[in-house]
Amino acid sequence: MSRANPTLLALLLVSGCSAPRPVVPLFDSRVPLEPLLAKLKESGGDPGRILRPRASADLATLESGRRYKFVVRDGRLAIAPLPADSPSNDYVHPVLAAGEPVRTAGGIRVEHNGSSIRKAVVDQDSKAYCPTAASLDSALTVLAGLGVPADRLRVDNRPPACVDGPTAAASGPRYGELMAEVGRRFERLGRAFRANRLALAEFELGEIGEVFEEDLPKAEPPRESAGVNLAGVAQAFRETNLPELESALRSKDPAAFKAAYARAAETCNGCHRTSGHAFVEVPAEPGAAVPRLDPLR
Ligand code: HEC
Repeated sequence: MSRANPTLLALLLVSGCSAPRPVVPLFDSRVPLEPLLAKLKESGGDPGRILRPRASADLATLESGRRYKFVVRDGRLAIAPLPADSPSNDYVHPVLAAGEPVRTAGGIRVEHNGSSIRKAVVDQDSKAYCPTAASLDSALTVLAGLGVPADRLRVDNRPPACVDGPTAAASGPRYGELMAEVGRRFERLGRAFRANRLALAEFELGEIGEVFEEDLPKAEPPRESAGVNLAGVAQAFRETNLPELESALRSKDPAAFKAAYARAAETCNGCHRTSGHAFVEVPAEPGAAVPRLDPLR
């Protein structure tokens, strides 16, 4: 319990302030920016296309009635150039904010007839920033500042399914767990090929591709790998080794498969060496256990 401080009150009165300005919180991103930017680049996205409206007329460039991701940063709106539900839309909240803290983040839906705005609805559904419903006030303030009449502004309360804090896994499984899966499947790929179980081999290869395409980009790299461009190596693996293995499987040519398998293992090991995990050795021969576990002498 604290009573009003008379000196402070006097100061406030003298300076003409009736009440201190409310403190407006900022929200930090809970996911690393780098993999998200890499993903955006891969899908042909460009941060330069992010919409930063300066007047309400700029909002009419959004498709009427569609929901777009947005953030409020430095007192301004940044809106994704594609609707939230369009395929391969990698303009996610941390990308819109360049990884910086935001006043709020979520979705915006503008209903308009090309010139006049009938309604602008905002929600706080951002898993990466996990903002409160109250933070949407900052979006309403910016929208009003752009000239959207106050009676057209709406809030849609959509509490996000927030990702865990920054110390926990970024937004999904840990890098090491995914790698353990890659190792298990890579071993099985080799064994399946040797057993002439080509459908199984193809299945395992497809699953490895999915881990590299969908899961690894979202996983937080281990701390020892700081500063190493894991995303770049992973991309090289996806773009050269995976297709090579695929065509070797299709050709059913054991020599071609062995060569492709050995080259893939080389990429695995190259990344392990540069990321400080040289002891995770992936054997070049299909059928051998992954990682290598026979005794060192
Ligand atoms: C882009 C870099 C990169 C590539 C490519 C890569 N790895 Fe890894 N791998 C890592 C890192 C980093 C770790 C350590 C993860 C950790 O410490 O959490 C690791 C760990 C592993 C582990 C040990 C996991 C555990 O927890 O037991 C296995 C097994 C593994 N990788 C297999 C493979 C195989 C097989 C390939 C190729 C098909 C491969 N990796 C390709 C970066 C890579």
